[in-house]
Amino acid sequence: MTKTRSIIRGVGGYLPEKVLTNAELAAMVDTSDEWIQQRVGIKERHIAAEGQYTSDLGLEAAKKALEASGVSADDIDLIIVATTTPDYTFPSTASIVQMKLGIHHGMAFDIQAVCSGFVYALATADSYIKNGLATRALVIGAETFSRIIDWTDRTTCVLFGDGAGAMVIEKAELADDAPEQGVLASALRSDGHHWDKLYVDGGPSTTGTAGHVHMQGPEVFRHAVGKITDVVYSTLDKAGYTVADLDWFVPHQANKRIIEGAGNKLGLPSEKVVMTVDIHANTSAASVPLALSVAVADGRIKSGDLVMLEAMGGGFTWGASLIRW
Ligand code: ACO
Repeated sequence: MTKTRSIIRGVGGYLPEKVLTNAELAAMVDTSDEWIQQRVGIKERHIAAEGQYTSDLGLEAAKKALEASGVSADDIDLIIVATTTPDYTFPSTASIVQMKLGIHHGMAFDIQAVCSGFVYALATADSYIKNGLATRALVIGAETFSRIIDWTDRTTCVLFGDGAGAMVIEKAELADDAPEQGVLASALRSDGHHWDKLYVDGGPSTTGTAGHVHMQGPEVFRHAVGKITDVVYSTLDKAGYTVADLDWFVPHQANKRIIEGAGNKLGLPSEKVVMTVDIHANTSAASVPLALSVAVADGRIKSGDLVMLEAMGGGFTWGASLIRW
């Protein structure tokens, strides 16, 4: 007997060239490097160039993930882009990435779960593979969040950045007694009653504009640590593991204090926590695959490691995925 699994072939990340430092932000709004670093642990963020779209960032990350995987674009039959900042209202950014990769077959669609988008997209791609709808998927988190920021609002503009990360996963039939590999378990949650704690005040149906990010920061903070730890425990339970089994924790990079709070509550040593929020800021759906691509490229995450991904964001949405690398 065999079991169908989605195994990880490779990851890649891309950050736009332009870096915006805290000092530069302090010249734009009433803030300081000290305040930003102390409250959220961010030093700098990358900002997409004029005319550089979410699909461009996603495409660069996808090319790197394909290269790292040794997989050609032609072999991909599912593209999911997790994004809150699509190029257009439609078609999906995934369709545009598909076109830019020269792919004519398979499926392409976007997932909108804000900062949890990548975890939602990975769980979706894993389900499609396990249910026989796809064999090799490109799962991308890509954002040009800078386009929906009010650059005069110091309470939000210091927090976010642009970027993209991508992962190639593929169907494998593993013998029942073979060592486990790939996506082991996922848990996804949402509670729309919290929609107005973190939202964008525009859209095609309401204002006909893209709108800007609004956030009740302390409320988001209050919910984050509990929701993150809860979904991490659920995911571990599903797969029959405990926190002590984890080699790496790759959380959504929203805020150093939220990451440390969740790590402490889980009882994880800080050496096992991948942190890139200082140099990437919060890149929403791109943050988890970007952090992963850094930790894989620098040799921290290795074949056989047990890795927990998690994210929480607007909706609220939250979720986690446990992976055997
Ligand atoms: N620079 C200087 N002062 C600021 C800034 C800034 N960039 N932003 C807010 N302040 C001021 C406020 O105006 C307020 O001043 P006041 O007391 O004179 O009114 C003061 O700082 C305290 O404001 P609070 O909002 O109460 O500040 P708090 O200590 O809660 O920190 C923060 C704000 C950092 C946003 C915090 O609430 C937080 O980390 N929340 C989580 C939000 C988050 O990470 N969101 C990311 C998206 S959600 C996700 O991805 C999970």
